[in-house]
Amino acid sequence: LIGPIWLIATSTESRTSIRYGSRSPQYITLELGHVLENLRLTSWGRDLSLQTFVSPSETPDWLEILGEEPKLEFIAGFTKSSNLLSDKYKLTSGKLSILDNDSFIHDYSIEETIRLRSSVRDYLDKNITKSEIETFFRLFLGINNKNRQVIFPGFSNNSLLDYTMFVGEKITDINPGVYNINSSTGSFVSLENTDKILDLQQAGLDQQWIGSASFSITISSKNIQLTADRLSILEAGVAGQRFYHTCTLTNLGMVVIGAFYDNQIQSLIQSTGQPLYIIPIGPVERSIIAFQLESIPITLRTIGNIAGILAVFLFLIMAIFHTNAVKTLFHIKSQKIHYFFASMIIFFVVIHVFILIGYYSIRTGEFSQIFDILIKAFLPPPLDFELAESVGQFFARMALWMSIALILIMLPLKVLERIKPKFRTLTHNILFIVIIGSILVHSFLNSNILNRFQEEYISLVIIGMGIWYLIHQYSKKQTENKKSID
Ligand SMILES: Cc1cc2nc3c(=O)[nH]c(=O)nc-3n(C[C@H](O)[C@H](O)[C@H](O)COP(=O)(O)O)c2cc1C
Repeated sequence: LIGPIWLIATSTESRTSIRYGSRSPQYITLELGHVLENLRLTSWGRDLSLQTFVSPSETPDWLEILGEEPKLEFIAGFTKSSNLLSDKYKLTSGKLSILDNDSFIHDYSIEETIRLRSSVRDYLDKNITKSEIETFFRLFLGINNKNRQVIFPGFSNNSLLDYTMFVGEKITDINPGVYNINSSTGSFVSLENTDKILDLQQAGLDQQWIGSASFSITISSKNIQLTADRLSILEAGVAGQRFYHTCTLTNLGMVVIGAFYDNQIQSLIQSTGQPLYIIPIGPVERSIIAFQLESIPITLRTIGNIAGILAVFLFLIMAIFHTNAVKTLFHIKSQKIHYFFASMIIFFVVIHVFILIGYYSIRTGEFSQIFDILIKAFLPPPLDFELAESVGQFFARMALWMSIALILIMLPLKVLERIKPKFRTLTHNILFIVIIGSILVHSFLNSNILNRFQEEYISLVIIGMGIWYLIHQYSKKQTENKKSID
């Protein structure tokens, strides 16, 4: 292996499988392909030569270095090279550019292209043309020809894969239909001349961005390979990343989609090869998307997160409604409202736990695992998470257990009536604060949708707690005053 710089990539499958179940080995390998393409581009741009070993069996000593986990995925070695690129390329080394008149193609450096890469799920309502798509594929394939000299290093090994294009009504001079893409020339031939975009969206678990894109590409292993091998999946990841970079250079936006019904895609592309990605692509305003937050797609996971957030705020509102001051203000005498809030909170927490822990089972309809999902929510979190993730998960479980303790202690049971009311109130308040505190730590450490609104969310919860505390103190004083008057 060449040196002197070595890079070792490893994976810990359980971190992915908690979300994606049996799909995770495939997702990890795809993700590695994305990394490999970036390494290849960066080393090319810096005139380094890169050698990669992508099969652990090639390096029998890895077990001695790392043990069983994390699993070794690939080893890359870099070394300075002086003969790889011709002098002409060296001058522009580090630039991804196209030397022709296509003004819509950007001239970004490799670093800029990598930095600007991001998934896009909202596309402009603007038609694109056949010639733009042809340029797109040529750039993707790194094809040099006489007039159009594309400076974008070529593909290593895309002969392992099939590419199929789905076109609807949004391309001016290509008829709606399904097209096979020739992976050496970038040209396409018709496979089916009816618009299959909606069928593709259905096969892609109804992800709306498939329907709203201008066109979509599927990547699958060759027909003869019913189950894609590791190299093909890696190459699909490489291709996925390459499509991202091509989009960055051509004012297009895309997202790779790995969640779909394999058999439905196979029948749409009329192939028995294993489908690996659906890639919806559409026009974007590059300068805007580079610096603006993408709108949050409402996915199943978003719903799970929102359910959790609702539970937290309902929890605070319930606490505020339970103070004497508010009870007097609204003439609340019975406990009914309190029980109503409590049941709503339990409802939202159950949704939150089901969706976020059972995400994969819900998507694939494997409902037989529902019991396992519920159990998982109460057991200690898997230890192979990153530390922050595990601590966050630990506090989520703490909040669950403490809530159960709170419900049990406050139940109107005969045995509990013997306990002094003062002691019960104190326990109640301590548990309440522990629960809210645990939820805060949990949402701080495990949030993903919240990343963008984390500060706002945490501030709102703290303000809510402050309001509760003030009203609570005020109620206490009033009760004391009343007692002293009596
Ligand atoms: C293997 C794989 C599968 C993915 N599947 C989906 C998917 O089914 N739907 C989707 O909207 N995004 C999907 N994505 C895109 C990720 O959500 C996205 O890459 C991630 O949130 C990081 O954002 P970024 O690409 O903007 O850096 C997938 C990404 C990978 C690597």
